[in-house]
Amino acid sequence: MKKKNHVLVTGGAGYIGAHTVVELLNAGYEVTVIDSLERSELRIVEGIKSITGKEFSFHKIDCLDASAMKSLFEANQFDSVIHFAAYKSVNESVEKPLMYYQNNVGSLMTLLEAMKQYRVRDLIFSSSCTVYGQPDYIPVDESAPFKKAESPYGASKQLCEHILEDMATVGIRVASLRYFNPIGAHPSGLIGELPIGVPNNLVPYVTQTAAGVRAQLTVFGNDYDTPDGSCVRDFIHVCDVASAHVNAIQYLEDLKAGKVFEAFNLGTGKGVSVLELVQKFIEATGVNLNYKIGPRRPGDVEKVYANPEKIVKSLGWNPQYDLGQSLKHAWQWEKKIHGLS
Ligand code: UD1
Repeated sequence: MKKKNHVLVTGGAGYIGAHTVVELLNAGYEVTVIDSLERSELRIVEGIKSITGKEFSFHKIDCLDASAMKSLFEANQFDSVIHFAAYKSVNESVEKPLMYYQNNVGSLMTLLEAMKQYRVRDLIFSSSCTVYGQPDYIPVDESAPFKKAESPYGASKQLCEHILEDMATVGIRVASLRYFNPIGAHPSGLIGELPIGVPNNLVPYVTQTAAGVRAQLTVFGNDYDTPDGSCVRDFIHVCDVASAHVNAIQYLEDLKAGKVFEAFNLGTGKGVSVLELVQKFIEATGVNLNYKIGPRRPGDVEKVYANPEKIVKSLGWNPQYDLGQSLKHAWQWEKKIHGLS
């Protein structure tokens, strides 16, 4: 059998990164993980090892550290890179725009510099549906233009995609995966998201409320132009997000020579409202949830969900989990964090 390629995963101890490392190891890839551990913990790295029973190299490196990145590339021959390392809080980015541009754009630039110098050609980039803003039509496809970003976080993702498009001319081949709303955790209950402080995202807030860490969930707005008045999103199991990265690596590996920058929507294609998700959580877990309706959250997009046709056709990717399973797994992980049964 052909030896599988060596993949560098930046931010591999993070939420989506860790689940992707599991998929890569299970698919037989040699994996090197780097993470600053600023927003994750070593126990996630241990969790990956327990799930897969496989070894991989882990280095505590911040992608902004150009000399550490150079040494890493000097010491390893990578075939491809998956770049997760970035900040992802919309609210925080509004408060600290410079920190977001520095970290999200700066780390990509340092990485690209190393890739160029050491002739590593293939890159999978963690993008986001936030690049579309509120699209003119839904389900949104990849040809929809970028609208003005709602936050510095969104703008940083748009900027990164522009930079990557320009890199195609110097021989870096890119698949940019535009995630919709990843939720859930690994079915083993050994890895999942570790939100810092009060979660901004819906599902960690839901599970923390169910666990009694938060008193009450606030649904931000029920007066939107949607069937039940709450916002509509495309929630996707994190393991399905993770598996798409393996398809994307194979896609780049199989390409003939030439310039490549391809963006792919990574969503299920199903729009689900916030209130529907709350009901589904109660139904799937049997746990009651204390919630109230509150005012709209500034900067929220009313409704967005993916047209996933391109990723399904070109990468042969298909999601495996439904919303109920995703929420059950999210709940299982939350209980694990608090030692609840
Ligand atoms: C946004 C971005 C997404 C990005 C993510 C990173 C868009 C459309 N999506 O996700 O690309 O990766 O941030 O954090 O720009 N909600 C509540 N109560 C809560 C929390 C959330 O009602 O306590 C609602 C929000 O108003 C929203 C929905 O739940 O309608 C989802 O919110 P969230 O999980 O924060 O994700 P997005 O804002 O959609």
